[in-house]
Amino acid sequence: MSAPLRIALAGLGTVGAGVIRLLETNGELIAQRAGREIQVTAVCARDRSKDRGIDLSPYAWEDDMTALAARDDVDVVVELVGGSDGPALALARNALNGGKHLVTANKAMIAHHGMELASVAEAGNAALKFEAAVAGGIPVIKGLGEGAAANAIDRLYGILNGTCNYILSQMESTGADFGDVLKDAQELGYAEADPTFDIEGVDAAHKLAILASIAFGTKLDFGAVDISGITKIRAADIAQADALGYVIRLLGTADVDTGSGEKRLLQRVQPYLVSKEHPLAAVDGPTNAVVLECNFAGRLLFEGAGAGDGPTASAVVADIVDIARGNFGAPFSLPAGALQPAAPADPGNRLSRFYMRFVVADRLGVLAEITAAMRDAGVSIESMIQHGHPEEGGDVLVAIVSHEGPESGVSAALDLLDGSPSLSEAPLVMRLLG
Ligand code: NAP
Ligand code: HSE
Repeated sequence: MSAPLRIALAGLGTVGAGVIRLLETNGELIAQRAGREIQVTAVCARDRSKDRGIDLSPYAWEDDMTALAARDDVDVVVELVGGSDGPALALARNALNGGKHLVTANKAMIAHHGMELASVAEAGNAALKFEAAVAGGIPVIKGLGEGAAANAIDRLYGILNGTCNYILSQMESTGADFGDVLKDAQELGYAEADPTFDIEGVDAAHKLAILASIAFGTKLDFGAVDISGITKIRAADIAQADALGYVIRLLGTADVDTGSGEKRLLQRVQPYLVSKEHPLAAVDGPTNAVVLECNFAGRLLFEGAGAGDGPTASAVVADIVDIARGNFGAPFSLPAGALQPAAPADPGNRLSRFYMRFVVADRLGVLAEITAAMRDAGVSIESMIQHGHPEEGGDVLVAIVSHEGPESGVSAALDLLDGSPSLSEAPLVMRLLG
């Protein structure tokens, strides 16, 4: 066997402690598969005295995580701290600039600085790997970059945030409140340090931008992702979707538009009404699922645990094994300099059916105002339901499902209603899938 591969771990929280447990449990098996032992030499976290349920005595402790990158007994720095900038980014830059390999689960950092870090890694012949950053334990980056390498990808979409999927499916099955379920997701270790990243769709957008860059050979452009989260979804929307034969899921979608003669990308994270017949409707709890539409392999579906210590540690260690085997590869499948810029595509001509939910004052003429806006914008209504309020004069909920039509029609109808005193809050619009 070759000499051990020596790693330093920055971050000993949900994922970091999971990595130590996994290496302790499966060390022998992993050494056989990697062709060499994986040896943790040094670790770092904020609080040295915290009980993490793991024995840290065999490892050197550093108080300053950037010091890990300067150690002579470290080949691979594993960053499991989080945050797009700050200490995590400083550590990543130091490690790669110093010629060390970097493994990270940090999608925020890769989404914002992935192009720069990939260039530094390639220049120094170091590996930069981030399988755990997207969809937890699912090997989707490997699937895209290796398994589907022979295909042009026409479209990718999926459930990319375990916390949101857990919240939506729990609200659906138990009728529990949003806030209570979010608290459970935090306690179970699914949520980000700042859970607004999960519920506002930002975390899913980080992951989508990373996947899109690999899938389409384009420069990673997180700023181009159109993002909506799940905070406006009410129990009434979930009940309404159920009655229509749908469930609500937060999806990330990315596809190429060549209609204008140049390659444009449409990247979005939004809640959808997903038909109960569609495979994504059965994806519950913190599970993630990614669909790749490939021009030769057809539709590939990757499904598995999208968050949590074990699955995420599994993806981190798989990257370490790759490095131990000498499989470095280009971080985004193509060399960073070969990735093409792609302008954002205009979604206006995309056809879909839409669910539109309005909270309106319960008074004469309000429904007529909404339906007139639909008519004037050319949006054809398939069904409409009004949920009354027990107190006369209170707000009521009006849900409309449209026939298939261009997105520009719905935008025009909403523009007509913008500022109307009849609307008590901004409308919620979701596309229907399947
Ligand atoms: P976490 O439980 O909050 O752990 C973060 C760790 O970083 C803690 O050990 C913390 O130290 C340490 N830390 C924070 N700031 C530090 C600093 N300035 N210097 C040294 N150590 C510092 O987070 P996590 O859930 O494990 O997530 C880690 C990374 O994995 C994030 O990028 C996250 O997005 C990503 N990720 C998480 C999951 C998941 O399911 N949790 C899945 C995929 C990817 P203390 O323990 O001493 O406070
Ligand atoms: N907070 C993330 C999620 C962790 O809920 O999906 C996994 O990336």
